[in-house]
Amino acid sequence: MATNGYQETPLLSLLSVLTTSIHTIEDELKTAGLPPFTLDPKWHPLDSLDGVPPPRLYEARRAAMAAANMIKALVQDVGTAMMASSPDMSVKALDQTAYMLTADIDLLDVFRTEGEKTGGLHVDEIVARLPEGKKVDPQKLGRSLRLLSTEHWWVEKSADVFAPLRWALLNTPGTPSHAWADSSSNAALIGSHAFVAQMTDPAQLARDTIEAAPIVRGLHATGSTHIKNFWGWLAQDPDRLGGFARSMEGLGYINLPSLKADYPWAALPPETTFVDVGAGQGTVSLHILRMLYDANPTLRVVLQDRPQHLQEGEKYWAQHLPRAIRDERVAFEPHDFFQPNPRTGPNTIYWFRFIMHDWTDSYCIKILRAVRDVCHATSRILICDCVVPEAPPAGSVTNGVKFSFEDTLKSIDNDAPYAPIEAPYPLPKNFGFATKATYRTDMLMYNSLNALERTTRNFEKIVTGSGFKISHIYTTRGASSIIEAVPN
Ligand SMILES: C[S@@+](CC[C@H](N)C(=O)[O-])C[C@H]1O[C@@H](n2cnc3c(N)ncnc32)[C@H](O)[C@@H]1O
Repeated sequence: MATNGYQETPLLSLLSVLTTSIHTIEDELKTAGLPPFTLDPKWHPLDSLDGVPPPRLYEARRAAMAAANMIKALVQDVGTAMMASSPDMSVKALDQTAYMLTADIDLLDVFRTEGEKTGGLHVDEIVARLPEGKKVDPQKLGRSLRLLSTEHWWVEKSADVFAPLRWALLNTPGTPSHAWADSSSNAALIGSHAFVAQMTDPAQLARDTIEAAPIVRGLHATGSTHIKNFWGWLAQDPDRLGGFARSMEGLGYINLPSLKADYPWAALPPETTFVDVGAGQGTVSLHILRMLYDANPTLRVVLQDRPQHLQEGEKYWAQHLPRAIRDERVAFEPHDFFQPNPRTGPNTIYWFRFIMHDWTDSYCIKILRAVRDVCHATSRILICDCVVPEAPPAGSVTNGVKFSFEDTLKSIDNDAPYAPIEAPYPLPKNFGFATKATYRTDMLMYNSLNALERTTRNFEKIVTGSGFKISHIYTTRGASSIIEAVPN
């Protein structure tokens, strides 16, 4: 058996990674005074929008997720691969629709007490409590929940008695993560219907507009030929439009705490104007302004979007940070981001979260040019998107020496600014399953908007193509990075 934590076979190496990661997770939670992770139906403190794990805990969690998933791939037999794993590929939509059902019928509302949440309810009782219009067949509901139980979102406590587990809480009615299940899940389903036909249609190959997204073909196939694109699909239904804005807030869970922690916001100079371009309801700018409200009293936020989207923003700010409206530290400004940006003063930050990933390169360059042509030399742009890792071979092998993951974790300084580590052998360098959200979002962007998540090289192309240069890429403890660029 080799030293340095590296064992002879991939499986034993993964066991070593898993053991090290799990001990580190337990130690880090204890040191931080945090409770252990459980599946009990209540949030862990790290699940909150302020919950950012210390760097060592973050890396150990990624390694544990990736190792567990790779162990599954290694140990499964052909039968399981065909009947459990391969349907994961071919009929995953059935898991998705079971999940969407729990959102649509507001299932979590049925569980009224903590006792009911932990003890569970019989499917007959669940259905009896569902309001008219939301009733479903108890047997079919039970089968859906049984499917979700294989992923530990629900649990069957005894025959036909089901209880939600921690992740089922994501579908709590009224929450942003619940809103995600409607607009984005529906968009994915409608688009996946037409995905292959659109990919293989020679007439579509050269098209780079948002009208060439699979969702448009899917909508047309079901008779909605009047809908031109994803934005048109949202706009035709006010509930869906509002749900989409809230679902963007839901996406905060994958990056908000880390965006707040892993960019040097405290160093913003006085009199900074933070322009949230294509803001939606401006979730991130609200949290950043709230964090810096007293420390940087001259910091101001401007939300720019199309008028109907800004209405959602005004409601959201009135509810969550009304003093910013009273103190005139936030403004709501209708603006088409393809037109020259009206904000041209010094020390302006143009913040683009989830904007570039909605558009192909030529459109991104137009959007960034509309800022570059008017911006002050002291200004900068911050692009917040996933950065897609390319071609990731197994990590932690340099000159034939395999590093001990335990030593790597121990060497992390929890008080220093976050810097990512390399994944241990035999995990892929991108931490495999732990970065799946990035690759999935990439395909969701194609599906909905004929767009993409970008690699570093892709970002360089749009940034330099619009007259900026990248000054720094901040990798965060979340699914998104912040690409900072200054006028060239
Ligand atoms: C994916 S959402 C991101 C919203 C927000 N930046 C966030 O991170 O929550 C994209 C936003 O771009 C806005 N948008 C699309 N086309 C636009 C245009 N031509 N001018 C201004 N905003 C636009 C949409 O209305 C939507 O709010």
